[in-house]
Amino acid sequence: MKINLIEKNIENGVSEIEIFFVKSVENLADKEILEILDFKAKDESCILLAESKKIYVGYEEDNYDSLAIAAATAIKKLQTTKFKNARIELNEKLESNFKAIVEGALLGEYKFTTYKSEQEKEIKIELEILVDNKTSELEKILRESKIISKAVNKARDMVNTPPADFYPKVMAKKAKKIAEELELDVKVEGEKFLEENGMNAMLSVGRASVHESQLIHLTYKPQNPQAKIVLVGKGLTYDSGGLSLKPADFMVTMKADKSGGCAVLSTLWAIAKLELPFEVHGIVGAVENMIGGNAYKPDDVLKAKNGKTIEVRNTDAEGRLVLADCLSYAQDEIKDIDYIFDYATLTGACVVGVGEYTTGIMGNNEILKRNAVLSALKSGEYATTLDFNRFLKKAIKSEIADICNIANTRYGGAITAGMFLDNFIADENKEKWIHFDIAGPAFVEKPWGYNPHGASGTGVRMTIKFLQDLVEGN
Ligand code: BES
Ligand code: ZN
Ligand code: ZN
Repeated sequence: MKINLIEKNIENGVSEIEIFFVKSVENLADKEILEILDFKAKDESCILLAESKKIYVGYEEDNYDSLAIAAATAIKKLQTTKFKNARIELNEKLESNFKAIVEGALLGEYKFTTYKSEQEKEIKIELEILVDNKTSELEKILRESKIISKAVNKARDMVNTPPADFYPKVMAKKAKKIAEELELDVKVEGEKFLEENGMNAMLSVGRASVHESQLIHLTYKPQNPQAKIVLVGKGLTYDSGGLSLKPADFMVTMKADKSGGCAVLSTLWAIAKLELPFEVHGIVGAVENMIGGNAYKPDDVLKAKNGKTIEVRNTDAEGRLVLADCLSYAQDEIKDIDYIFDYATLTGACVVGVGEYTTGIMGNNEILKRNAVLSALKSGEYATTLDFNRFLKKAIKSEIADICNIANTRYGGAITAGMFLDNFIADENKEKWIHFDIAGPAFVEKPWGYNPHGASGTGVRMTIKFLQDLVEGN
């Protein structure tokens, strides 16, 4: 979709149909017909008046969510017609939610059709945004929101790709392609490197797979960076559970266990495109968790890169093992880190705890956690904090090793997983680290808002917002 800003009284648009955002039907010229058609000024309600070439879309509140959903709903309605050019006239309220309208339209338009044998004819839609004045602020929002939405859709494409076509080496190739496009540094290491560098936790998880594990390190380094940021992603291209095999119904959708890693790659792409003034490292552990004669086992004890020993009691708690080594690698490799964030579809417990729409935010720094929640909400994502405590910490003690990869209680599973990761954060980085458990929102089974079935691209928007808010002088 193309989106252009048009100055009302100066330029002539080419639009064939107009989209109206409606919070109340009172005072509308079409009030009567809308009432006859039972149109309500509510989220997701939408009416096409084909003859008069109008689309009415309802919304409830003047905020990101409501307007992004309205924009997505209107675009989906437009897609059911042959009209190719539509216009939206911005009033003051809509103007202050311009970001939501652009992102809602671009995210709502997304469809994953790669695997359909009959390809729908792609209709290129053009959206004209009519304003009194094309301010530089509006132009900036449009430019940025296009990049942000494209990054989210890139992550969605990767996550949606089936495991037969998206395995660790494919993920590494994607990283190399991003590096090539934007002139970033990229390093890809295989299992030999993991072995030589004591990354036995990550190595063990991928051992039964026919696909070699890959450690991906992408770096964006502008001149005079204001801070150094490290993003680490869980990139399980498939999680069968390993020998602690998942039941059949739970295995479906586990292609999405690479969502954290995909979010990191796409976010790096966006950061470079936006030319944010930070040195940003993206580190992804791309691994496939499978079964076989050489699979790692419950009862194994693994030594991680930082020297800590881990008793494996469940091979399905593999994400934390991969992250343990990736977090250690990141901190060994990169010094004087300002922020270190990790993204992972880590626990089903997080989904049970906070619901399928919300990311669980964990860490040791209260203020940083609150700021991360705020950035998420401002960016259009849902997030909430989950607090560590001394008692849950005891639940991951091991009789024979330093720690155990599962807790001795069913309760608080998202938090005990987060506290497991804390064992791999060096003292100097404790207050700089955040763990994002995106297990709920990363993959959408029942469409919601502007998210169709499939990957949502969770993590991309909130991270970009966090960094944008960090820019000095903003
Ligand atoms: N990838 C899963 C977590 C997951 C579950 C993500 C549902 C998305 C939706 C993870 O590797 C896993 O299997 N975790 C186990 C941990 C348990 C064995 C302690 C879980 O959540 O059941
Ligand atoms: Zn698992
Ligand atoms: Zn997993």
